[in-house]
Amino acid sequence: MIIAQLSDLHVRPHGRPAYGVVDTNAAAARAVDAILALEPRPDCVLVTGDLTQNGSAEEYAIVRAQLARLPAPAYVIPGNHDQREAFAAALAHDYPYLPRGSFLNYVAEDFPVRLIALDSVDQGEEGGLICAEREAWLADRLAEGRGRPTVIFMHHPPFLVGVPGMDAVPTRVSPGFVDLIARHPEVERIVCGHYHRPIQRRFAGTIGFVAPCTAHQVALDLRPGTANHFVMEPPAIAVHVWTPETGLVSHLQPVGDYGPRRAFVEPAEPGRELSGAAHA
Ligand SMILES: [Fe+2]
Ligand SMILES: [Fe+2]
Repeated sequence: MIIAQLSDLHVRPHGRPAYGVVDTNAAAARAVDAILALEPRPDCVLVTGDLTQNGSAEEYAIVRAQLARLPAPAYVIPGNHDQREAFAAALAHDYPYLPRGSFLNYVAEDFPVRLIALDSVDQGEEGGLICAEREAWLADRLAEGRGRPTVIFMHHPPFLVGVPGMDAVPTRVSPGFVDLIARHPEVERIVCGHYHRPIQRRFAGTIGFVAPCTAHQVALDLRPGTANHFVMEPPAIAVHVWTPETGLVSHLQPVGDYGPRRAFVEPAEPGRELSGAAHA
């Protein structure tokens, strides 16, 4: 099973770059192109929040057009830049699995790996929130899985990452959340976005994985007391591959043109005969 991941598209209205300089719409299109170029094709695509910059209807229309190009089913969750109601209203037609209730939590059971979408948005706040109600919902869904391999995907990483500018606004989780995850070793990953750069850490007996943004990244800054700044480092998509033998293996695929693939063959050196056995 191949799970592609797009995160933090931050789509803007046409002609209005994010922060005045980042053409997030073109970047989102290039990220979708990168998924279209994957061989073999992914079985599904997780889109882990901040689909838009401000949650406007115009932005969601652009998101819909881009996600419609994907070669596999997409599973979308909101981020802090989205507006939950506008998100659901704009995307419910294309993605009928989105629930009508208060939180956009759901489970995709169609694959060898269960995909559990956990809505981490605390509307109006930058930081995420897993409240007692969402923890209880997750506990029920994990119990139903009876140990089948599972990926939980959510916008906000539910753990500290050791970067002061990121940890300044941590995700608040209910008291039982860490123990709940720890009781379910079938959780192969908690797959997130939000921090706009690749990060991995051990968390509650599983692996926490943060995917980069499809457009602007957050500069790595480990100095205490520093704030986040964005930087135009290469964007990337994530590709998570599951087999019964390996479990889930996660890759990052940079988005962009880095030239052709080349064979590992040294050029002939002047004055030295190449032998037929040189590459044996
Ligand atoms: Fe974001
Ligand atoms: Fe975010």
